[in-house]
Amino acid sequence: MKQKLNIGLFGFGCVGKGLYDVLEHTHGLKANIARICVKDKNKERPVPASYFTFDKYEILNDETINVIVELIDDADAAFEIVSYALRKGKAVVSANKKMIAEHFEELLELQKQFDVPFLYEGAACASIPVIRNLEEYYDNDLLNSIEGIVNGSTNFILTKMYNEGKDYAEVLAEAQQLGFAESNPALDVEGFDARYKLSLLAAHAFGLFIKPDQIFKYGINNISDSDIRYAKEKGFKIKLVAHARKIGKSLGIWVIPRFIPANHALYNIDFEYNGVSVEGVFSDKQFFSGKGAGSFPTASAVLSDISAISYHYQYEYKKTQQEASLNYEPNILMKLYCRFPSSIPVSSLPFESIEQSFNSPELNYVIGNVNLDTLNSSRLLDRDDVFFIQAGDEVDIRNTNEFVEESEVFEIAF
Ligand code: HSE
Repeated sequence: MKQKLNIGLFGFGCVGKGLYDVLEHTHGLKANIARICVKDKNKERPVPASYFTFDKYEILNDETINVIVELIDDADAAFEIVSYALRKGKAVVSANKKMIAEHFEELLELQKQFDVPFLYEGAACASIPVIRNLEEYYDNDLLNSIEGIVNGSTNFILTKMYNEGKDYAEVLAEAQQLGFAESNPALDVEGFDARYKLSLLAAHAFGLFIKPDQIFKYGINNISDSDIRYAKEKGFKIKLVAHARKIGKSLGIWVIPRFIPANHALYNIDFEYNGVSVEGVFSDKQFFSGKGAGSFPTASAVLSDISAISYHYQYEYKKTQQEASLNYEPNILMKLYCRFPSSIPVSSLPFESIEQSFNSPELNYVIGNVNLDTLNSSRLLDRDDVFFIQAGDEVDIRNTNEFVEESEVFEIAF
């Protein structure tokens, strides 16, 4: 039977306000926002002041409130709120990918111990119902891989740079104005946000809880016009791609900008849209796309979680029982393009083998094979005059030595 929901909302920013509006227009769901906890006492808000409190315990200790919706920015404060609420036996909905990825196992324990639902569809790919699909539809399917564009801001920036030749800083400011970017946009452009989301997706796809800082990530903050020009010349787009792939008993997992050819499912996923491709042993490939950032797209996922709570839905983390022997493997060999200044000798680039190199007064690049674990400790990752892009689908997981070629391998005609 559907439960009547009395919501205590934390945060009234882009998504919180979006949820308020979405609930106003939603009929059929017996849910209402009872109180809203916010930080800033002086901000003007388009809702009666009687809704607001500045004391979290007024909501957390209110026995009439049975659902907490946590939509604040600060991951540490969010964890305090969420863990307190779960201990009080309240159902919780959150969209805080950083908080969830960093405390995954503790949150899982709390759900089990207090037998309460904790749902977070809005935390990964906003409007795309990817977590619930992984949990329910693919509950028994053996998945080989999940990959996609999972950050709307970086996709928006890359699209505008590619289509309109706009400057990186200018389009980043636009992504912030539109409410796509995190309040600290370094989380988007340096790949942290994509890594948090990938950690969530990997847990539901493969049952493996990988700490975000174990996942290799490289963002788009060092991209230059010459990389965009190069991609255009070759008929590629550049997208920031999050990828988790099972090879034998190992799981390789990484976030890196990648050249995307025109026949690839991610090629036409532009602006703030996200796209996720799931590949199963029997089902083969499926592709999901939708808006991955913004007030209403994220609020729609939060609304769906609230609705799911009204019929007592909980994640079961089914894959954690099924994939017990899967191991995380950081030694991934892949083909990368590296643009670098002529002051850096090619021999000091972290390549295991080089297939091509090009030098001109405007552009120097090499293409070759790199071990991501080696690259991870290279100081070149932090240099703003160097940029790495994945230049092919083939990956090799070092310790199994099994070479994988995807079904849709594309030719790179450099
Ligand atoms: N900053 C995030 C993004 C918001 O751009 O994808 C949605 O999680």
